[in-house]
Parts: sequence; structure tokens; C-alpha cells
Amino acid sequence: MIKFIEPYFIIETKSLSYAIKILETGHLEHLYFGDKILETDLDFLHTKLSAKARGVIDYLEEKGKDIPLDLICLEFSSSGKGDFKLSPIELKMPDQSFVSDFTYQKHEMIEGILPSDTLPTPYDDEKNTKTLIITLKDTKFNIYIDLIYTTYYDVNIISRKTIIRNNEKETISLRKIMSMSFDIYGSNYDMLTLDGGAIKEAQKHITPIAQGTYINSSITGNSSYKHNPGVILLEKGTHEDFGNCYGFNLIYSGNHYTAIDQSSHGILRVMQGINPSMFEWDLNTNTSFETPTTVLSFSSKGLNDLSHHMHDFINKHIIPRQFKGVDRPIVINSWEGFYFDFNEKKLINLAKKAKSLGIELFVLDDGWFSSRNNDLSGLGDYDVNFKKLKHGLRGLSHKIHQMGMKFGLWFEPEMINPVSKLYEKHPEYAIKIEGRIPALGRHQLVLDMINPLVRKYIINEISKIIDDTNLDYIKWDMNRDMTDMYSKHIPNQGMFYHSYILGLYDVLSQLRKKYPHILIETCASGGNRFDLGMLTYGPQIWTSDNTDPIARLSIQKGISYFYPQSCISNHVSMSPHEQTLRKTPIDTRFNVSMFGVLGYELDFKLLNTFEINSIKKHIEIYKSYRHILQFGQFYRFNEDPKVRMNFQVSFEDTHVLGNYQVLAEPNPNLEILKIKNLNPTKIYDLKSMEQKLPLEKFGHLISHALPIKLNPNKALFRLISRFKQLDNATEEAHISGNVGMKGYKMQQQFMGTYYNEQTRMLGDFGSQIYIIKESR
Ligand code: DGJ
Repeated sequence: MIKFIEPYFIIETKSLSYAIKILETGHLEHLYFGDKILETDLDFLHTKLSAKARGVIDYLEEKGKDIPLDLICLEFSSSGKGDFKLSPIELKMPDQSFVSDFTYQKHEMIEGILPSDTLPTPYDDEKNTKTLIITLKDTKFNIYIDLIYTTYYDVNIISRKTIIRNNEKETISLRKIMSMSFDIYGSNYDMLTLDGGAIKEAQKHITPIAQGTYINSSITGNSSYKHNPGVILLEKGTHEDFGNCYGFNLIYSGNHYTAIDQSSHGILRVMQGINPSMFEWDLNTNTSFETPTTVLSFSSKGLNDLSHHMHDFINKHIIPRQFKGVDRPIVINSWEGFYFDFNEKKLINLAKKAKSLGIELFVLDDGWFSSRNNDLSGLGDYDVNFKKLKHGLRGLSHKIHQMGMKFGLWFEPEMINPVSKLYEKHPEYAIKIEGRIPALGRHQLVLDMINPLVRKYIINEISKIIDDTNLDYIKWDMNRDMTDMYSKHIPNQGMFYHSYILGLYDVLSQLRKKYPHILIETCASGGNRFDLGMLTYGPQIWTSDNTDPIARLSIQKGISYFYPQSCISNHVSMSPHEQTLRKTPIDTRFNVSMFGVLGYELDFKLLNTFEINSIKKHIEIYKSYRHILQFGQFYRFNEDPKVRMNFQVSFEDTHVLGNYQVLAEPNPNLEILKIKNLNPTKIYDLKSMEQKLPLEKFGHLISHALPIKLNPNKALFRLISRFKQLDNATEEAHISGNVGMKGYKMQQQFMGTYYNEQTRMLGDFGSQIYIIKESR
């Protein structure tokens, strides 16, 4: 899996190779990252230079031995020696210069993964990983860099991280150090990023790369919904099922940075790591600094295949092992149903109804503590609000457990309201700067996670509640970005952001160790911290506060480029939707939420009988396909997302396909349903899930379908519609894998003429689920 054939290193996964060459000067040349290669290829992969290039500096100007670093694809460059591509490192050296020159010194190979004491690290239960450590040394000073490569053979992932050691007598200032960097030839690439904001997370953007530097980063103190840390570099023309693409993601929850730099000779350098902005680490004598781990993959088969590598890696090596491959429960969360306005009775009624519908986990969201009747106060306090919960949390959890449901609770542990008991007692726990009025976000400040007393306080308070309630689940929320960054507990404020994240990881690791069975779902105003770092502590993340199924299609699609369905938490909520005012059918709300971890976030009392019956049926369906929906292989399609979208999951011989009509077209085209990943030689049974159509969908048109005339604005219409629904067309067919993959001809959609039971009635926001199973 890792070979050293002097002067070459080859790191291999099941279908990928990554090759490096030690140059005569000791610099490392990046030779290759792509589909598997032969050993004989190695001699031909290096940069072939035959004459001096104009305007280029030679590192070594011996006759016949010119080494122009700027023209070579490097594996990890230094600064100030003639490579003018963006450097992955910035150090103030003992001689006060910024010039560094790291060259090969030695290497070592070990079984497994190099552990870390402070940073989240993948694990390997199958003993399928190997690690290569290449040590570089600065040519002048005793400063060392370890480049660490781990191959995750089966899942086609290579991870990288960097450790820098200072063995000089002086402290040096580390201003930038990337977890990885490498160069490829390429002037034909685009960059795919997931950008957005609150309630519009993970919107896919494609940026063409030309000469210059392109950056995807966050500076909010978290990994941020403005720019997710995952980045794909794709050759022009690549789509979901075709083309060359490289994927990068960082196992980190703080300020991240990915740069793609295209040089004047068409070399593309890509690097990923901690954001160097406002970063300055004092590297004292005989100490080291370890970067977070970055995750790399490649596919020559397009974006779906690349995502499968990322998904398999997360399911097998990232999420806490207690939850590996374990089906996640269906949730009822109290937030959108009640917000802060609840009492024990309301909660119990909600739980009872949820239980009767088949829901398995009851989660009490924000508002159960202190003076928290709105978002003005209470964060930081953990005393239960007995006015709302007359038997306390223990009484509530006991009742929920007695019903046969699991009990979960919301916390926002990293935050404090200036109006809180904690702030009265310990104002110094909050992050702020003397002499400045701190900026507030949602009326709250951030707790100084660098302060060991703050960490101890959080762990103690949460532990008491876990013990008291026998808690099964935690929703770990975080609702504001950082400002006024300052902590007394570090010698240099350039260490602030990273030290905060180390503090957070410390708290999460301690709680995980103490309560390994607790299912943690992390959240940050929706998806403001959707990253691999958080996934090592909690296997699922609240994707977005936007639960409108149509808005959610692009959010879930975006997130799926890097993260599997088992991590994506989706809730069905009310219609019209609170953030978009869009009215959507209950079926579509489910049909979108089912592609991930399903939950409900509404007050069932506000639903009509038709919706309640639909939910009951949906939950039965979800349960029978849950494992496939959470752990199956997910496929995206190359469709026009303004008109129609499709999602598919495949697991063994079963495929579940969602077909979503975003907007209805008048007199539409006849359509096909393309199914992916079928065996061309097999026969499949295709069936669409039954759907009832509420009469309201048709308004006055209903008179054409029913034998009696009804006024849609009158009580009689409403009464009848409670009991009577029309049937939507269901489709059933036996098809070969080949036909399914080319496209099954669907039944006609409503064309503005007549309704009958064979007509698919979708309209705006309509959708259908297809189950495709191998015929027995
Ligand atoms: C933001 C989260 O995204 C919501 O789901 C909810 O938990 C609120 N915070 C509670 O304040």
C-alpha cells in the first residue's frame, strides 16, 4: 500500500496511486495523484525540462542541473528560494527572515494511523491503513517538518497532515502552515465550493480557475455555512458521472482555508489547512505544532464516485464507532412546534402523538432552563425552569422513557447571555476585550473555551443533567460567530482561534469518553459548522433551519458532495413554510427528508387527518427502507435544478429514487426516469409509492373530477376533503437494468386536460418515490 523505490514513494489505495519523487536537491516533487499506475510509469511522471525558461530563478545553477522550483510540481514548498507559487508555509525564522528551505531528511512507514492528543483523527477498525512519515529539514536551521500520509485502502482516501518541530534555541513565529499542498499541471480546471449562509447552506458554486489565487475559507471562528471546508477541483466537462475530479476536506471545525493557485506556467497548486488570517503560533524551543488532518480523493468517473469515496470514509473512519452502521432513530423535536412556549403537558401530548405515529426519539429543544422564555437571556445556566416543567427534566424524561421513547435535550454549551446567573458570577468567562463593547449575536457572547475553568464548568453541568435524566441524545447547538477575540489564557492572540477549537474538542472528547452511548447531533444555527471535525464527536448534523422541501433540495444536494446521508439530519415541518412561505404537499416534505436521518418538527395538533395519516404511512415506509436511506450509496443527477431534481440511494439489490418536480410546466414533455447503478443483465421490479391527493390541490377543478359540484371556499368542501382524497397514479413495471439506466418511460403527467387514475398529478412541488428492486 505504501512503497519506497528510491527515489520514489508510491502511496496506494484500492484504485488510486499517489507518487512523490525525492529530487537531487532533496526537494519533493509531486509526480502523480490519480487512477492506479504501474511502477514503470514512475520514470516518466517527472517534469521534463530541457532548456532554461525566461524569468525563472534557478535553485541550483550547476551546468545541466538547473532546478527551477517555480517550474516543478512540488509536494510541499518553502518560501523565498525561487518558487513563486503560493507557499504552504510562512515562518519567521531565527534569523528574522521569512526564508525557509525544507528538504528530505528521512522517512518512516508505520502500520495504522498516527494518533493525535488534541485533534480529531480518523480510526481504523479493519486494520486497513498504513502511514508514511517523510521528514524534511530546513537547510540552515534545526527546524523540521513531518509530512504525514495515511492510506485508507478500501475507501480510496489518502489523508495528510503536517507536524512542524522547532529544535532551535529561539521561539519562532509560525504564521501559516498547511495540512497539505501539492502541484499538478492544469489550466483546464474549475473549483466546486459549497457556499451560502443561514437557511441557504451548501449552495454549489463552480468557479473557473485562471492564472491567480482562488480561496475558499472561513473567518467566523467555525467552519461556517458561508463556505464549507470541502472543495473539489474538477476538469472542465466533469459532471456527476463523468470526468476527473479531486476532492479535499479538512477534519477541522474552525477557520479553514483552501487555496488553488495557478502559476504563470499553468501549474496548479492546491493547499488546505487552518486559515492563516489572524493566525500566529509561538513555536517555542523543542515544541511542535500539529495541523488538522486533510482528506484527499480522486475520481476519473465523475462527482458521484468521488462523493462515494468521501461517504465511505466518513461512515467507516470518522463518525464515533458506537454509531458505525447503526440505524438512527426518527425524531420529534419541539423547536418549530413550540419554540419557547411549552410546558410539561404540551410536551407529553406531543410525545404521545409522536409515539403513536411511530416516532422513536423525543427531543426537547431550547427553552428548558433558567429564565429562557426568549433568546434574550439564560444561556450559560443549567437550572431547570420548573414553571414550565413542573416535575423537572427528570420527571419529563421518566415519562418519555416510560412511553418507550428515547429522550434527548438541546444545549448550547459554548455560549453565555450577559443576562444570566453565570455572567453575574463569572463575567470573565465570556470572550471580550477590556475597553471595547463586545459585539452581540442573538443577544449572546461566546464562552472562552481556552479557559480550563470554563471547560470544567460545561462538562460538570452537562454531566449532571445527563445523569439526572438518563439522556439518550444531545443536540449541541452554537448560534453565533466569533468577534472580540481575546483570551487571557494564551501568550499570543494569534493563537486564539485554534486554541478555542482545541478547547471545544477537549470538552467534546471528555463527554464522549464519559458517555459513549449518547447520540450527539451537532448544529450551529442550522449548518454553520457542518464539518468532519464535528462528525468525529456526533455522527449527525442539523443541516439547516430551512426545512422547506424545495429549498432543501439544493441544500441536501450540496451537502451530499462531501457528507453521507447518515450524517444529514432532515425534519418535516409545517406548510406554508416559515422561512419561504411556500405551500408544499406533506408527501414532498417527507420525500425530501427521507434521504437522510428523518425527523419531525411541528405540532401535530395543527395538522389535518389527511396529513396525520400520511405521516403514519411515511414513517412505516421510512422504517422499512431506513438502512438503505441512511447508509446506501447516494447518487445525484445532471438535471436542471430549476425544473426537476432526482435523488437516488442504492443498497445491494434495492434502489430508492426521489423524483421532484420543482415547477410544473404547461403541457409538459413526456418524461423518462433514469435509474443509476443497475445491473444491465438483471430484471427489476419498479414501483412508485402510493399517494393520495387532497382535494385542495385542485380547488374549483375538483368539480370536473367528482360527480357533485363543490365550492372550494365552503365548509362542505372542507368537510368532504377530510375524508375523500383522489388517487395519484402509481407506476409498476418489470424492466431490465439496461432500460432502467437508459431511462424508463414514465406515465404521462397532467397536461392541463383531464385527470384519471393513470395520470401523474404533480403540479408545482409535487414528487414521487420509486422503489426499484431486483426481481426474484
Ligand atoms: C438554532 C437551531 O438551528 C434550531 O434548530 C434551534 O435549536 C434553535 N437554535 C434554538 O435556539
